[in-house]
Amino acid sequence: MTARIRLVEVTDANCDAVIAVRVHPAQDRFVASVEKSFEHAAEHPEANPWFRAVFAGDEPVGFVMLSWDVTPAPGLLGPYFLWRLLIGAGHQGRGYGTAILDEVVALLRAEGATELVTSCVPGEGTPEPFYRRYGFVPTGEVDEDGETVLRLDLR
Ligand SMILES: CC(C)(COP(=O)(O)OP(=O)(O)OC[C@H]1O[C@@H](n2cnc3c(N)ncnc32)[C@H](O)[C@@H]1OP(=O)(O)O)[C@@H](O)C(=O)NCCC(=O)NCCS
Repeated sequence: MTARIRLVEVTDANCDAVIAVRVHPAQDRFVASVEKSFEHAAEHPEANPWFRAVFAGDEPVGFVMLSWDVTPAPGLLGPYFLWRLLIGAGHQGRGYGTAILDEVVALLRAEGATELVTSCVPGEGTPEPFYRRYGFVPTGEVDEDGETVLRLDLR
């Protein structure tokens, strides 16, 4: 069954609740927090950040951020790069992460995108199996931070 989620714009009204969505402390090495993501977005306008809070019913359960239609350059993967994806510690393993990818893929296909690129920190507990299960394939590249680069064919 597909988990029901909504991608919602971050506003003054929901911002604090969205920032309060956190992964397990042991997962902090795999993903930056929502608050850090806002900082990264502000620091990197060249990456054309696009982000949404993820709600299940009235509850914020996750966060997703992409680089949206950028021209790839050194240190800048794209054109569409899944920059951040996280599900709150108490909400993982219920299909929300998969449902977010489904929504994002539908949006990207509507834009005419042919691939989605992401990267993940390797090692014990890495989310790489989650991405591979969805259909992402390692490109063989490692980015400048030592992260494994993966690609999802949208055609
Ligand atoms: C990785 C993450 C986004 C997945 O979201 P989720 O809602 O927990 O995943 P789903 O419930 O949709 O899981 C789909 C499948 O992937 C598997 N999976 C999820 N996370 C996994 C992980 N870290 N390692 C291995 N498998 C994983 C699930 O077991 C499930 O498989 P199943 O259907 O055979 O049981 C989420 O667990 C998370 O935020 N983790 C911490 C932060 C992180 O690593 N983010 C990615 C940064 S690149």
